[in-house]
Amino acid sequence: MSKYNKKRIARLFDNMADTKGKAVEQIAGSSESIPQIAGRLAFEQLKLTGEDVLLDVGTGTGDKAIAAAHICRQVIGIDISRKSLEQARIKAEKEKLNNVIFAYGAFEEPCAEFNLALYGITKILAVYSLHHLPDQLKKESLITLSNFLFRPGRMVIGDIMFFDEPNKHLEKFNEVYYDGGDTDFPSRVEYLTECLKQIGGKTRIEQIHPLVGVIISDFV
Ligand SMILES: C[S@@+](CC[C@H](N)C(=O)[O-])C[C@H]1O[C@@H](n2cnc3c(N)ncnc32)[C@H](O)[C@@H]1O
Repeated sequence: MSKYNKKRIARLFDNMADTKGKAVEQIAGSSESIPQIAGRLAFEQLKLTGEDVLLDVGTGTGDKAIAAAHICRQVIGIDISRKSLEQARIKAEKEKLNNVIFAYGAFEEPCAEFNLALYGITKILAVYSLHHLPDQLKKESLITLSNFLFRPGRMVIGDIMFFDEPNKHLEKFNEVYYDGGDTDFPSRVEYLTECLKQIGGKTRIEQIHPLVGVIISDFV
């Protein structure tokens, strides 16, 4: 908990946005990377329809929010990196989308810029963002977010999460974009599922890698 520094993480992603961005989609390589697979599967598991209102938490430069805006009624992307949000807005303007909003907001403070309760959110996505929070803050944030989710609603988390002892997989840290605990604080998968269970989520898990998976949680 003591190492968590939200401002430092925001600066890190501001710098990445400045230097062309390292959104999950932009990790170089000819074949699909593990973070890309997590993002793709998480997006698919949203099962979006034209009725949905999606909240994308830690939206980064907004690629998934923008893809969702082509399907959903409304999309809201929040992030703590204002530079990433600027890029997301530019992309949305280029695509002439008028049903996507990008605003400053954190897992810990999702309504920093506007009241999410007004939007009737039916789906929540978090791709490669939740792992930046330590366990207790994750739990509190999941409780807060679930209070904004209309029922029936779905929350999908595609992220680094430990299915096994991470130290057995040191050589795999790079391929999953895990920095070993500097700004990344992934949880054990059991911790995440227990948090979701406590707030009433019916949860299933897709393991992609010993250190990465997708959690789908339904709230009825
Ligand atoms: C690796 S990027 C992923 C971006 C995007 N979800 C994607 O799939 O490309 C992680 C994002 O999480 C954001 N983030 C980190 N901590 C956050 C927090 N406490 N609240 C909201 N966003 C956060 C970062 O600013 C960054 O944009």
